[in-house]
Amino acid sequence: MRIVSGMRPTGKLHLGHYLGVLKNWIELQKENECYFFVADWHALSTSYEDKLNLRELSIELVRDWLAAGVDPTKSVLFVQSTIKEHAELYVLLNMITPLGWLERNPTYKDQLAQIKTKDIHTAGFLTYPVLQTADIILYDADGVPIGEDQRPHIEIAREIVRRFHHLFGCEVFKEPKELLSPTPRLLGLDGRKMSKSYNNAIYLSETKEEVWQKLRGAVTDPQRVRKSDPGNPEVCLIYDYHKAFSDEETIKKVEEGCRTAGIGCVECKKWCLESIERVLEPMRERRAAISEDMIAEVLQKGEQRAKAEAAKKMQAVNEAVFEQRCEVEK
Ligand code: TRP
Ligand code: SF4
Repeated sequence: MRIVSGMRPTGKLHLGHYLGVLKNWIELQKENECYFFVADWHALSTSYEDKLNLRELSIELVRDWLAAGVDPTKSVLFVQSTIKEHAELYVLLNMITPLGWLERNPTYKDQLAQIKTKDIHTAGFLTYPVLQTADIILYDADGVPIGEDQRPHIEIAREIVRRFHHLFGCEVFKEPKELLSPTPRLLGLDGRKMSKSYNNAIYLSETKEEVWQKLRGAVTDPQRVRKSDPGNPEVCLIYDYHKAFSDEETIKKVEEGCRTAGIGCVECKKWCLESIERVLEPMRERRAAISEDMIAEVLQKGEQRAKAEAAKKMQAVNEAVFEQRCEVEK
């Protein structure tokens, strides 16, 4: 299968990104042809006022990907804004996308209601899913790995594809399918959504000591005041982390030990640390071997490959739109 997915460069990645997206990418790249890109134009749709250094953020994002195990010899890695065809296709798709589809988009309505610190009443934010559609169909994606929140965008992409085919009488694109991430969302150490702004996340680039300080400070079952008080793992975040990172045997030991007051929370957190370290330690090793030059080279190669695909697709698209010429008639 051809797989396409993107991530906005908004800062360093945490364990939530790893479980929700990266782990899936790393699995998918084994058997599929994957295109993974830095969605820097998309980042601007909400952060155009923030004076971000998107060049630097993009490089740091790719560093996190490579450290996590995304393999540039298997997957094509590139930066969205280096492939101008994304913008070209976005223009054409904007011409045929009904406003109602965008105004009804649940993620649009949610964000408008939630985000109060930024003014996102812009054309760019409304048409976010149109750009996302261009990203996907430019490369004939069969599957798009995404989290739950992105589902409406894939639906819009499918609708735009059908509308394009209908209007121009030509089947130029594939209808992409969503590939929902198999792991549920991991909460931050305070029980809220894992996020930079809440300071409750464990980053992929942290040292073991830093991870431990965060785990140590995390709240557990409030019923367990003393070590001899039995607890309920179901109400404890550390148990969630065990379920995400520990093996079956450890999870069972935690569950029993917690309920019977056979273990203490500090001990439980130490096991949790070791389980998380089994993921983070190899990342640290890989990260240490990544140079600026390496990242630049990976992105340059990726750009070349993406560019070739995108240019070929735009040729067919432009023939259909401007000359009514078509290889596969609808
Ligand atoms: N909207 C996605 C997100 O916020 C990022 C993204 C942009 C994307 N273009 C894409 C994801 C294309 C998949 C395919 O997570
Ligand atoms: Fe949470 Fe573990 Fe303490 Fe139980 S023993 S409350 S699961 S930290």
